[in-house]
Amino acid sequence: MPIDEITKKVSDRYARAASTGEQICCPTSYDVADLKTFIPEEVLKISYGCGAPAGLKTVRTGETVLDIGSGGGIDCFEASRRVGPSGHVIGIDMTDAMLTIARKHAVVVAANLGYPTSNVEFRKGLADAMPVEDQTIDVIISNCVINLAPDKRKVFREMFRVAKPGGRFTISDIVSDQTVPQYLVHDAEKWGDCLSGALTLTDYLAGMVDAGFLAIHLIAFSPWRIIDGIHFFSVTLTGYKLAETDVAPTVRYATLCGPFSCVVDERGTSYQRGIPQPIGPETGLLLSQPPLAPYFVLSHEPLWLDRADSRWTAILPAEEPCVWRGHYALLAGPFLEVADDDHHLYRRGEPVEICSKTFNVLATDAYAPHFAVLNRAGSTVSGEAVTCSPNESCC
Ligand SMILES: C[S@@+](CC[C@H](N)C(=O)[O-])C[C@H]1O[C@@H](n2cnc3c(N)ncnc32)[C@H](O)[C@@H]1O
Repeated sequence: MPIDEITKKVSDRYARAASTGEQICCPTSYDVADLKTFIPEEVLKISYGCGAPAGLKTVRTGETVLDIGSGGGIDCFEASRRVGPSGHVIGIDMTDAMLTIARKHAVVVAANLGYPTSNVEFRKGLADAMPVEDQTIDVIISNCVINLAPDKRKVFREMFRVAKPGGRFTISDIVSDQTVPQYLVHDAEKWGDCLSGALTLTDYLAGMVDAGFLAIHLIAFSPWRIIDGIHFFSVTLTGYKLAETDVAPTVRYATLCGPFSCVVDERGTSYQRGIPQPIGPETGLLLSQPPLAPYFVLSHEPLWLDRADSRWTAILPAEEPCVWRGHYALLAGPFLEVADDDHHLYRRGEPVEICSKTFNVLATDAYAPHFAVLNRAGSTVSGEAVTCSPNESCC
């Protein structure tokens, strides 16, 4: 389908949804009972998201928030509550019928929140050409929209343009575990269902890094649909537009603490656990961001760690037979590559088949925030236990 045709079909689809309230796409993870206390039913009825990007702690008092593909306004209104009356929220959508409903309810929501005037405005526009000034946004949110845009990389570049230095995004969207084939890409109905337009997790993350965002990491993950063996799942991701002013000049070395035995950061620098790696100020800035900071000791002089150090972290698989149940793990940041203590190498977005022992390692608090785990097996897994020792190395 040509780009204009995709955009028109998607817009027609959501205009129809705005008038009928039909169910499309995936359930969100909002607490609807809570939202009902200040958001009108007509808005909640046409909520078509796949996460809760405004319901997360990333939106703070007084901030300026941009919601890409705001629909009936659910995420804008939740952001409005979180930023408070001193904050500002801008919703962008291309579909008039959605904008009409969202604008109609902005005043009601402000009154319900006890604000003197609404701090939310809705603008008509496309995600890949947003009517927003350069470097004016603290937080970009979006809920199940970018998969609908024909040129996602252009959307990511637009996001980077409008974000303030030091700004960030928290976005929920549908991605896939493998490239969506052409026969699905050209299925307009499935595109509108937030399926056919999905990028692989690898391409999605690479597009964001190419646009300039860094420290991109997983906040939430939820399986959605399987079509012809392709797994579609929802991810909520956060990433940063780093501000150079934050660079700490005293940091010259980074030592990886674990739980990974080695990692590669988004600038391509490799780190081995316990061994100090010389770094420049830009990498120092990257490693001091919230999702990366807990994994490193940053220092002025080289600092070695060993197993006896309380900062050293390692999680070893249990010594027991393993079972293959069809699980695959996809690394979702904030590193490009990581290795565990059982010789598995994970590259961001690329599915790696894992046995029950590795499944348990990845379920630990130290590993779990970094991985989406899917089950690709049908109903016929025999589940026989096999020996899985380092010498016989079955996994
Ligand atoms: C799946 S709905 C999600 C709406 C809202 N975020 C929510 O969670 O309810 C997608 C919305 O994005 C809008 N949209 C889709 N593609 C767009 C694009 N390229 N530019 C601007 N808006 C777009 C549609 O009009 C629709 O309102």
